[in-house]
Amino acid sequence: MASKLIPSFPRVGRQLIPQISKRQCRPFSVASQLRSESLFVHRNSPQNNPSLPFKFNAQNLALIDEILKRYPPQYKKAAVMPLLDLGQRQHGYTSISVMNEVARILEMPPMRVYEVATFYTMYNREPVGKFFVQVCTTTPCQLGGCGSDKIVKAITEHLGITPGHTTEDNLFTFIEVECLGACVNAPMVQINDDYYEDLTPESTKSLLTALKESALAADSGKEVKVPAPGPLSGRDTCENSAGLTNLHTVEWNPETMMRKDGEI
Ligand code: FES
Repeated sequence: MASKLIPSFPRVGRQLIPQISKRQCRPFSVASQLRSESLFVHRNSPQNNPSLPFKFNAQNLALIDEILKRYPPQYKKAAVMPLLDLGQRQHGYTSISVMNEVARILEMPPMRVYEVATFYTMYNREPVGKFFVQVCTTTPCQLGGCGSDKIVKAITEHLGITPGHTTEDNLFTFIEVECLGACVNAPMVQINDDYYEDLTPESTKSLLTALKESALAADSGKEVKVPAPGPLSGRDTCENSAGLTNLHTVEWNPETMMRKDGEI
């Protein structure tokens, strides 16, 4: 009956199948897979387990009140990210107790907080050094200036650690990260909250030396000059390093050049 309704397709189809050439599939990447060393699940340890108490200090509690005012009371869980950030800044890293305290304050299931903290890489769920060095190794930083490969090599040599590790004195933790949005001043590195840009291996090493000296001198009350964040090449921001190439004669005057309110 079936062959009367659809007379010859099943047989023809069967014959055609072996003749359809198989698509060649080539792997997208030919490099060997590097498995991350980070653990994406929580394992209790003596310094990071739910029985260790964590409470926000008075200053952060006042900030939390301020943050919560930005959201309707029924949506206060929307404040999970700034609260986790405050917890990390106070405690040094986002421990399981920090996450549980944020869940308690926001009346969220703790699992929802864990999901956020494990998704976003800016939450360190393990302790990091005093200086958290994040080197951008995305393509523009790899190609810009001397290239991020040289910066990674310089840091590795100078600190004596490979990415993903902390120095024995707990001063530096060093990792590689994806684009930090300062590609125009490549190669660059983020250390704690600051960006250092237009790096060379030499400027990177002297920056790390200055940071170490400043940390050691802090105890003795001495002051060590650390380079200001931003480009270390002498540029102010991201202006053309070869100087102005146009608009030489036009004097910039916002009073005369900007359109006034109401003007068309
Ligand atoms: S690629 Fe390094 S900051 Fe964008």
